[in-house]
Amino acid sequence: MGSRMTMIWVFLSLSLMADTGAEQAGLFLTTYSGYDYFKVQASGPMTSANVNATCEAAGYAAPCAGLGSLCEGDCVQTGLDNCGWPMDEIAKQLCSGRASQCPQMDRIYVVMATTFRSGSACGVERAGCSGSVTGPNCYCATGNNYNNGYALCAQVGVNSCLPNPCHIQATCTDPPYPSTNATCTCNAGYTGDGRVNGTGCSDIVNACLSNPCHAQATCTDNPPPALDANCTCNAGYTGDGRTNGTGCSDINACSSNPCHTQATCTDNPAPALDANCTCNVGYTGDGRSNGTGCSDINACSSNPCHAQATCTDNPAPALDANCTCNVGYTGDGRAIGTGCSDINTCSKSSNPCHAQATCTDNPAPALDANCTCNVGYTGDGRTNGTGCLDINACSANPCHAQATCTDNPAPALDANCTCNVGYTGDGRANGAGCSDFNTCSKSSNPCHAQATCTDNPAPALDANCTCNVGYTGDGRANGTGCSDINTCSKSSNPCHAQATCTDNPAPALDANCTCNVGYTGDGRANGTGCSDINACSSNPCHTQATCTDNPAPALDANCTCNVGYTGDGRANGTGCSDINTCLNSSNPCHAQATCTDNPAPALDANCTCNVGYIGDGRANGTGCSDINTCLNSSNPCHAQATCTDNPAPALDANCTCNVGYTGDGRANGTGCLDENACLSNPCHTNANCTDNPPPAIDANCTCNAGYTGDGRANGTGCSDVNACSSNPCHANATCTDNPAPALDASCTCNAGFAGDGVVNANGTGCLLQPVSGAGSSDIAFFLTLACTLMAILSTVSEQAMFE
Ligand SMILES: *[C@@H]1O[C@H](CO)[C@@H](O)[C@H](O)[C@H]1NC(C)=O
Ligand SMILES: *[C@@H]1O[C@H](CO)[C@@H](O)[C@H](O)[C@H]1NC(C)=O
Ligand SMILES: *[C@@H]1O[C@H](CO)[C@@H](O)[C@H](O)[C@H]1NC(C)=O
Ligand SMILES: *[C@@H]1O[C@H](CO)[C@@H](O)[C@H](O)[C@H]1NC(C)=O
Ligand SMILES: *[C@@H]1O[C@H](CO)[C@@H](O)[C@H](O)[C@H]1NC(C)=O
Ligand SMILES: *[C@@H]1O[C@H](CO)[C@@H](O)[C@H](O)[C@H]1NC(C)=O
Ligand SMILES: *[C@@H]1O[C@H](CO)[C@@H](O)[C@H](O)[C@H]1NC(C)=O
Ligand SMILES: *[C@@H]1O[C@H](CO)[C@@H](O)[C@H](O)[C@H]1NC(C)=O
Ligand SMILES: *[C@@H]1O[C@H](CO)[C@@H](O)[C@H](O)[C@H]1NC(C)=O
Ligand SMILES: *[C@@H]1O[C@H](CO)[C@@H](O)[C@H](O)[C@H]1NC(C)=O
Ligand SMILES: *[C@@H]1O[C@H](CO)[C@@H](O)[C@H](O)[C@H]1NC(C)=O
Ligand SMILES: *[C@@H]1O[C@H](CO)[C@@H](O)[C@H](O)[C@H]1NC(C)=O
Repeated sequence: MGSRMTMIWVFLSLSLMADTGAEQAGLFLTTYSGYDYFKVQASGPMTSANVNATCEAAGYAAPCAGLGSLCEGDCVQTGLDNCGWPMDEIAKQLCSGRASQCPQMDRIYVVMATTFRSGSACGVERAGCSGSVTGPNCYCATGNNYNNGYALCAQVGVNSCLPNPCHIQATCTDPPYPSTNATCTCNAGYTGDGRVNGTGCSDIVNACLSNPCHAQATCTDNPPPALDANCTCNAGYTGDGRTNGTGCSDINACSSNPCHTQATCTDNPAPALDANCTCNVGYTGDGRSNGTGCSDINACSSNPCHAQATCTDNPAPALDANCTCNVGYTGDGRAIGTGCSDINTCSKSSNPCHAQATCTDNPAPALDANCTCNVGYTGDGRTNGTGCLDINACSANPCHAQATCTDNPAPALDANCTCNVGYTGDGRANGAGCSDFNTCSKSSNPCHAQATCTDNPAPALDANCTCNVGYTGDGRANGTGCSDINTCSKSSNPCHAQATCTDNPAPALDANCTCNVGYTGDGRANGTGCSDINACSSNPCHTQATCTDNPAPALDANCTCNVGYTGDGRANGTGCSDINTCLNSSNPCHAQATCTDNPAPALDANCTCNVGYIGDGRANGTGCSDINTCLNSSNPCHAQATCTDNPAPALDANCTCNVGYTGDGRANGTGCLDENACLSNPCHTNANCTDNPPPAIDANCTCNAGYTGDGRANGTGCSDVNACSSNPCHANATCTDNPAPALDASCTCNAGFAGDGVVNANGTGCLLQPVSGAGSSDIAFFLTLACTLMAILSTVSEQAMFE
């Protein structure tokens, strides 16, 4: 079965591919599971074979209705798999419902197995369904009973919607194979070709372009799929905002009653949201119900009335006020009218006062007047009262008890006062009054100046006189008067025998006592009396002096300096100072000694020899002599030096090296060493120097070997010894001295001679050479001469060596 199906599929595919060029009949239904489905008009009864053949003839394949023995006939498995409900998948694609309820499926048949209802195909006949889902005349209708329906055919499909060539706001429709060009359809509210690479899908229209909104509204286009726009009235306006609706009208802020009941409300036109409130005539305030509102204007606040009038505001809408003069005043009461003036009760007709009274009107609000009796009169001053009567000044007792009073008539207010006999004064109670006449008064005083006068009271006219304390007498000016009492008189003298008494003048009753010179004390007989003054108690003497008081009447004391001190001994004089034993005349010390006085009470001094001197330092002792530093034990010099003491105050000595020695000469210095005479280079360069020991101060000079002379630099020095001077060479030889230290010379035979040129025994000397073929005798001669020379030379050199 499987292999057969595969072969069929291969064949079909090949045939379909081959037939693609042929024109295919049929109407495309849908694409499902990779196949495109079509309906093809058939003719004759709708058997499975007829459906199969119709599809074949149109170049399609006949799809199987599903899997299962009833559905697997002469057909191709294309993926339909609902054998219980054939073509259900196709119907769902087209109508989202059952095939019998889908108009597009009407009269379409699908191949079934040959065993199904005698070879019938299965189809949809909606005409007999009446809306039901199943039934032999509805679905699945038995094809043998129906003619000229449609065959359900299929071919391999291509899903041209994958990948999707359409805009996100477009719907893609896969076309039947072989077309691969999908259809793109913009969703509702959008316009365009729907293609990603085309014009795409854009919002069809801006709904605001058709001006759906009122002039005072803002238009907002609603995005697709909506086709309309929103209208919103601007601030201050109300309504639906639509042109053909309620539009937008100004909001009447007055409708919310923002104003006070006594205010007029005026709405401010949009976009303003508020209203103006204006208080009605006669009212004041901001006019707002939630503000100060509107209150009656108080016309009195502008002070239209006189200060003495009462102001009463007339209620709104009246703008003025009434003015009424207060009690006691008269006038219209207005500030700019006659105002209010005081009513005068004293005017002639209404004067309530007595003829001898003065009338004074009481200022408003008082309505009456005061009546005051004129000076000198008394009473209430009123005509119908007590009137005004003369005042009796005596009734007020202005006079002293010892005076007589006489009233003076009105308008006089006063009375006369006269003092009785024995009295004097102005007689007035509040004045000097009347006093007893004082006989002690200055002019008539009968008493002494130091007496007290006592007047005898009135009506007596005399006085008593008494001497004051400290005085004695009858006290009268024309009597014994008053004299001072003397306390120092013998019997009452209060003073000590050594005191002087001085009476104190009256009124004092006592006397002063003063101790005589040299005494001290209160001077009184019954007090401390008078005793000798100790002048030492005031410390008049120096601390190093002894004080001795001199007896009275002397006031001073004697001061004597203690042993070892000198001076007047007084604290405020030269005092007492240590006696200096070192002073010139008494100095006990040697001229080269220092004197140090020993402090009091010591009377002597210490003597100390000055630096460089030795001795007890005393003038009458060993005195002070120069210290000799060169003495044995302290000699600072070297054994080969001479010591010379330096005189005092120097403590040292000079050291001088003896002849032939050199150095600082000190035992603890460089001392004295032999002086090397060679150091001054007295010898010639070619001489050897040898110093001579002290006391010699010179050196010996000896010329080196090969040289001769006295060897001294400033003498003959040292010169080379000329070996030629001893004639070591043959007469016919030339001598050349060899320079020192060599002691010999070279001998060279002159031309025409032969030999060694030496003349000693071993030398050959110089022999004459034969011109040609010289004889051996000649040669012998020369040889002999040479030998002789050599002998001489050797002798000479031996002698030189032993010299
Ligand atoms: C149905 O079609 C097949 C080829 O797919 C063919 O072989 C067969 O004969 C047809 N059957 C009928 C009854 O025509
Ligand atoms: C759009 O065009 C471009 C360039 O031709 C191509 O690469 C791309 O696949 C196209 N997109 C679609 C969805 O067709
Ligand atoms: C696909 O179809 C669209 C609209 O029908 C057309 O404009 C377009 O040219 C087609 N593309 C191809 C390749 O046929
Ligand atoms: C005006 O009102 C009518 C009826 O209410 C409505 O059909 C129409 O669309 C409206 N016109 C506009 C521009 O809104
Ligand atoms: C239009 O009004 C509706 C209803 O109030 C609201 O839901 C919508 O968001 C509004 N549209 C715009 C674009 O404001
Ligand atoms: C309200 O008061 C303001 C300020 O005085 C004035 O400018 C405005 O014109 C008034 N509005 C009306 C409607 O009178
Ligand atoms: C008075 O009323 C106005 C308008 O309603 C409001 O803005 C304001 O705040 C109110 N003031 C008070 C003091 O209530
Ligand atoms: C003010 O005076 C007039 C005239 O006499 C009177 O009618 C009115 O009542 C007075 N107003 C008041 C508030 O007394
Ligand atoms: C009138 O007499 C009364 C009572 O003695 C006094 O208070 C007042 O000041 C007097 N009036 C005048 C205007 O003198
Ligand atoms: C006189 O006195 C009486 C009572 O005291 C009084 O009622 C009357 O008004 C007074 N007359 C005058 C003019 O003052
Ligand atoms: C009071 O004294 C004066 C001056 O001495 C005198 O003029 C007057 O007459 C005297 N008055 C009486 C009532 O005696
Ligand atoms: C004056 O002296 C007499 C006689 O001693 C005495 O009686 C009288 O009281 C004295 N008068 C006074 C005021 O002391």
